[in-house]
Amino acid sequence: MKILVKSGKPDAIKTELLIIGLFEKEKFAYKVLDNKLKGRISKAMKEKKFEGEFKQLYSVSSLGLVLAEKILLVGLGKKKEFDIEKLRQVAGFTAKIARDGKADNFQTTLIETDIKGRDLSEKAQAVTEGMLLGLYKFTKYKTDKKDQPHKIKEAIIVTKEVVKVNKGVKKGIVLSEATNYVRDLVNTPAGDATPTYMANEAKKVAKKYGIKIKVLGKKEMEKKGMNAILGVSRGSSQEPKLVVMETNPTAKKKIALVGKGITFDSGGLDIKPSNYMLDMKSDMAGSAAVLGTVIAAAKLKLPINVLGVMVLSENMPGQSAQKPGDIITAYNKKTIEIVNTDAEGRLVLADAVAYAEEQNPTAIIDIATLTGSVVVALGYSAAGLISSDDKLKKALKESGEKTHERVWELPLWDEFREAVKGELADVRNLGKGKGYEAGTIVGATFIENFVKKTPWAHLDIGGTGWFVEPSDYIPKDGTGFGVRLLINFLENWK
Ligand code: BES
Ligand code: ZN
Ligand code: ZN
Repeated sequence: MKILVKSGKPDAIKTELLIIGLFEKEKFAYKVLDNKLKGRISKAMKEKKFEGEFKQLYSVSSLGLVLAEKILLVGLGKKKEFDIEKLRQVAGFTAKIARDGKADNFQTTLIETDIKGRDLSEKAQAVTEGMLLGLYKFTKYKTDKKDQPHKIKEAIIVTKEVVKVNKGVKKGIVLSEATNYVRDLVNTPAGDATPTYMANEAKKVAKKYGIKIKVLGKKEMEKKGMNAILGVSRGSSQEPKLVVMETNPTAKKKIALVGKGITFDSGGLDIKPSNYMLDMKSDMAGSAAVLGTVIAAAKLKLPINVLGVMVLSENMPGQSAQKPGDIITAYNKKTIEIVNTDAEGRLVLADAVAYAEEQNPTAIIDIATLTGSVVVALGYSAAGLISSDDKLKKALKESGEKTHERVWELPLWDEFREAVKGELADVRNLGKGKGYEAGTIVGATFIENFVKKTPWAHLDIGGTGWFVEPSDYIPKDGTGFGVRLLINFLENWK
């Protein structure tokens, strides 16, 4: 779908469907339109057929009286409760109605909605995100044409301030396309989306957008002693890959983003029960989010070097698989007791963050579907944030609120550091004693052992990266979580 920004008056455009938002108790602003429609809209409002309740709908056929074929009123609820997130939701909700009605084009006036403290660019960005993210559907594997969603050709925005609106729309397009690309990667079955496939995707986009890229395979990892990654991949026939990208190698500021990329997590020898295993193609959502963020950062020409690291492997119980009780020596030379082979994310990340730190970034953020426990703590509403750096935490929290890709802090206390101390080796990959129960914190605390001195933050997207209940602009399954959050963070990081 194309988004066309045109200059002019909102009620003087030919379109199949004109979408207009209205708050509760708000008067209909487009008087000329209502007059031409012989007062049908004001009449419906007077008769309380439409009262502006959030997401309430009322449609009027124009019968040729105005240029729009149909007018769709959508309720915005109470003005004082409305914000940029609700705008994104309504934009997604109404775009899907236009699609279900098989419209070839529609016009939306939602960017005109009055939101305190938000300028036209921000509103245009939110509406664009709502529409493009809301219309996403994963149909790559459907062969029957009937199963392909109707394709709207264009969404039209009419405004007097084309430049401002265009700025927001353009940014919204970049972020939504990158997010939808992440969703595609996460939704692609593990049989296809192997570590090699993911690395090839990264190579493809790196070439397209002029991103520097290096891919380490098994041999290079063996030479470097990345035994934590190699250990996890031992039970699989698929070669592990470490993808390292740089958007701006000469820039002074460098931020490392490190993504967990387990393309399938069977649990290894500590095998998962079948109902827990089914969705584990999504265990590479962190690395997909890193790739999406790198693409968006390159397209937006952010004046900063984003060092994107994707650590890719399967976790399988093949005959060479690592065994519970094994001890391995990680890339940074610390020894690790493998207590549970299903706690593999922290193992691959141990080597990946240590490698990232050697490239001298000013901060490291890892993003990972690390634990199921994060769902117990925060549901599907926020990513777990664990860090010992106050500045990094504050910046990530602010970006989370702004983008509605929210994060919530969990504590990093000494008792958890105690819980991951090893008995035979330096550290263990499963918490001992009572510390065991705070699974999300324990996982993060383990990773902390592999960062020496660089400010570091961990984002657990076990709940937010994959979700089975769709909402207005988030489809079921792969959510694409992280791109909008991390781009906002990168834009504001000083
Ligand atoms: N990939 C899983 C975590 C996960 C589970 C993410 C469900 C999203 C949904 C991870 O590798 C794992 O298995 N974690 C275990 C750790 C445990 C063995 C210490 C968990 O969270 O149960
Ligand atoms: Zn696991
Ligand atoms: Zn996992």
